[in-house]
Amino acid sequence: MTSYLLKGVSVLGGAKQDLVIRDGIIADGGKADETIDADGLVALPGLVDLHTHLREPGREDAETVETGSRAAALGGYTAVCAMANTSPVADTAGVVEQVWRLGREAGLVDVQPIGAVTVGLAGTQLAELGAMATSAANVRIFSDDGFCVADPRLMRRALEYVKAFDGIIAQHAEEPRLTEGAQMHEGEVSTRLGLTGWPAVAEEAIIARDVLLAEHVGSRLHVCHVSTAGSVEVLRQAKARGVRVTAEVTPHHLLLTDELAASYDPVFKVNPPLRTRADVEALRQALVDGVIDVVATDHAPHAVQDKECEWAYARPGMVGLETALPVVLSVLGERWDLIADRMSRTPAKIVGLDGHGGELTAGSPANLTLVDPSARRVVDPSELASRSRNTPYAGTTLPGRIVATFLRGVPTVLDGKAVK
Ligand code: DOR
Ligand code: ZN
Repeated sequence: MTSYLLKGVSVLGGAKQDLVIRDGIIADGGKADETIDADGLVALPGLVDLHTHLREPGREDAETVETGSRAAALGGYTAVCAMANTSPVADTAGVVEQVWRLGREAGLVDVQPIGAVTVGLAGTQLAELGAMATSAANVRIFSDDGFCVADPRLMRRALEYVKAFDGIIAQHAEEPRLTEGAQMHEGEVSTRLGLTGWPAVAEEAIIARDVLLAEHVGSRLHVCHVSTAGSVEVLRQAKARGVRVTAEVTPHHLLLTDELAASYDPVFKVNPPLRTRADVEALRQALVDGVIDVVATDHAPHAVQDKECEWAYARPGMVGLETALPVVLSVLGERWDLIADRMSRTPAKIVGLDGHGGELTAGSPANLTLVDPSARRVVDPSELASRSRNTPYAGTTLPGRIVATFLRGVPTVLDGKAVK
């Protein structure tokens, strides 16, 4: 196993130092086979994504576990949680084990499968949560993401079920009766464009209900892609009461607004939709305060024919793995400890991924990424490693470049390029 000396690296923005990676861990000094000139580069613990759509099995034309893993490594990630809305749905031990095995074979990031809450994501019958939890995939998070577990009795049962093994229900908060036919955020812009709106209250009402259910049951709730200022207030109150709830925000909800829908370019169609400037400001503040615990990408690759069509027929979603850190850097600035916390430490802790999100000190597993904060990059969709091209940042200049990523001491990215 090749050893590496990262010469003059700054760990989390601290003073320059030398870091040696040997035998999969961060070593206590000594010689190395290869030297990387890391002057001006910042080392972060490898990023951990709680919300990635890898599309395999079923939509390998949009992404595979391997192509998505490569995109993740290039984005600085060492672990991703794979969402369950595949085809077939990841609602059995068999499917989650398949995804987990494909992740191991690709060997570019640790792929932790998420299991569905309900059979076929249909929202009527609980899936085999226990069988998925005790499978080789060791599922800890369950989600019907893409759909809301709207039935309160089913949501209660799911929370009760996972309590036994301290599992988590990750909710896609969307009251479906309030979003029928919705095309974008309900507000001034939707009125102007004449498009059916997705009101903020459809998200807020479900979060309010679910924090009460989680409090009643005493189990863990995670809220996917929080998008409104009102949701932040519901979460703030719940956390103040001690409810076991965590929440994520996506890079796109931290940067983009519903004004972009005026272009009618479906690349900006996403669920939940892009909201207003006031929502964006509230989400940023909540991320800094810790009311929102983590940034998660909701990387949602879609094939060309599903995206390059009329707005109303386009699938919602954006790719995000390769631009997440640059977007967060542009939003938060070089607050490295905060970034490491929200993109690595806390997500690793939530899902219980040992070896990820730890300190970069001697003896720790060498899961880390090296960033050049002084570099700027114009996003070119044709350069993405993802099999899909639906990035909302095409032509945008973003700060920061991922120079290298190491998974257990083995480089997955060197010189900004995937190693395999
Ligand atoms: O925009 C989205 N795309 N939101 C979701 O909840 C699902 C996702 C997908 O699977 O494409
Ligand atoms: Zn999603």
